[in-house]
Amino acid sequence: MIKIAPSILSADFCRLGEEVEDVLRAGADWLHVDVMDGLFVPNISIGIPVVQSLRKATEGFLDVHLMIQKPHRYVERFCQAGADLVVFHVEADEPQDIFAALETVKKAGKQVGLSLKPKTPAGVLAPYLPMLDTVLVMTVEPGFGGQRFMADQLPKIAALRKMLDEANPGCALEVDGGIDPDTAPLVRDAGATVLVAGSAVYGKADRAAAIAAIRGE
Ligand code: DX5
Ligand code: ZN
Repeated sequence: MIKIAPSILSADFCRLGEEVEDVLRAGADWLHVDVMDGLFVPNISIGIPVVQSLRKATEGFLDVHLMIQKPHRYVERFCQAGADLVVFHVEADEPQDIFAALETVKKAGKQVGLSLKPKTPAGVLAPYLPMLDTVLVMTVEPGFGGQRFMADQLPKIAALRKMLDEANPGCALEVDGGIDPDTAPLVRDAGATVLVAGSAVYGKADRAAAIAAIRGE
């Protein structure tokens, strides 16, 4: 079963509580929260207080995608704020600190994931795979919603599918960036199990139809 995770980056932040309830009613499985620090990516979005407010407002599954340098500094606070899953980037620190951040999230009793920028090869994740609940493949350069899907990432998704089938078959394989009803079948066929979509859900008047189309119903 494919899960759909609408990214609040394309929601109306003035009405965030209503926006997330609306997509959950429309069939969303997870709520994807994009955190950007202006250093790891050339944009600044939202952080810990917004996760805290969302946690009070909804029982939906909070999938928190940290696009920040040295994530180990902050992962515990995102867990305390109410994240259900904390995903950060393998490029954002040295391996020993990536391992430390993974351990911190697991100790907090939350799910943990690692993400790859488009230029990072799948093999970089090999040492971490048994520890992960989610692998997140970026199909745009992280930083902004509404960009064009990078089809050259499809072989990497397929390679990670194979690696996970061997090393950790229960791990989710999430794809993020440029997902819409046209690109969703490509990543589903490559083995993705969770599809993030920002503009293609929050940007549509009929969000139930948008989610069903992306899921392939
Ligand atoms: C990009 C973010 C994505 C983004 C997706 O840096 O990680 O989650 O919001 O937006 P769309 O679906 O519009 O490409
Ligand atoms: Zn994201």
